[in-house]
Amino acid sequence: MTTELQTSLSDVRRRFDADAESAADEQALESVRVTYLGRNGEVTKVRRTIGTLPAAARPEAGRTINDAVASMEQRLEELRRRLEERGVESELNATIDVTFAAIEPQLGAIHPVRRIVNDSCAYFARHGFAVVVGPEAEPDYYNFDALNIPADHPARENFDSFWITDGVLLRPHTSPMQIRTMQQHRPPIAVVAPGKCFRRDALDARHLFQFHQVEGLLVAENIHFGHLKGMLTGLCRELFGAEQRVRFRPSYFPFTEPSAEVDTTCPKCRGKAASCAMCGGSGWIELGGAGMVHPNVLREVGYDPGVYSGWAFGFGAERLGLARYEVDDIRRFVESEPGFLQQLS
Ligand code: FA5
Repeated sequence: MTTELQTSLSDVRRRFDADAESAADEQALESVRVTYLGRNGEVTKVRRTIGTLPAAARPEAGRTINDAVASMEQRLEELRRRLEERGVESELNATIDVTFAAIEPQLGAIHPVRRIVNDSCAYFARHGFAVVVGPEAEPDYYNFDALNIPADHPARENFDSFWITDGVLLRPHTSPMQIRTMQQHRPPIAVVAPGKCFRRDALDARHLFQFHQVEGLLVAENIHFGHLKGMLTGLCRELFGAEQRVRFRPSYFPFTEPSAEVDTTCPKCRGKAASCAMCGGSGWIELGGAGMVHPNVLREVGYDPGVYSGWAFGFGAERLGLARYEVDDIRRFVESEPGFLQQLS
């Protein structure tokens, strides 16, 4: 290759570098490309002089020019990327004020009622219970008949229900899960069944029309009321701490015999105000019902009551929440007021 061609190429490259470096935007860069690498550009002019070289020198001259073109194209690409990055940067600088005071992100938290359900299930799971869930709409067979509440039984009125079709209702309690579980398994059985329940109850400080229950069932040989009392006292200790008082009060459910209701100290008046709107002055609020599974229920699922005995309970999760968080109105759990939820999280 002649020195003359080399000199021309070096000159083109020097001017190319200077022009490309000073290109302020992509359009200017494109015009540099056309000027130097375009069909009639500076490099093409140099390439045309190859024809004047001796035949033996032409291949090397061609390679040198091709290498120069590749290197110039690479340089153009680098500069294009640099311009692009600078563009993003200046756009960000125009829209983000890095001196602005940071806004702390608001993190979500588990709803207090969900936490009650989770903690209750975790307590029973630690004691070997399985967690089971079932349908929210149930035939009246599971809600009532199989639980020893025949069609004409007055106890049906205690579960003022939302009927969907003739014979199917939104479950007013989680006790149908007792039947479903016992139909599917043979003793020993130890399950806890959390879930939503629905009742046509008027709203007040202790009642919602949609709420949650945590149901428990243990069936095996030689099970007695003492086991039930121990497990439920343990649950209350776990949720409320050892100081909170809990009492078992004789009661009636068609599906348990004997039956009890479990109460705890009223979170609003702590048992002191005679005119308390939460507890009506009794000093206690009811958490749920419990008892020994009725022999008719055991028979209904094909268990021999002479061999097996068991206990069951159903606690209201929102009621447990009232006591645990010392909340004075159950409606606060569904109003979802951020300040309230944050305070409990
Ligand atoms: C029952 O629902 C029985 N199935 C409980 C049971 C299960 C007894 C197993 C024996 C064996 P009760 O209707 O009392 O019982 O409701 C139980 C608890 O659910 C109540 O003590 C209360 O904590 C909660 N609960 C009932 N109705 C509502 C309501 N409208 N709003 C909020 N919580 C409620």
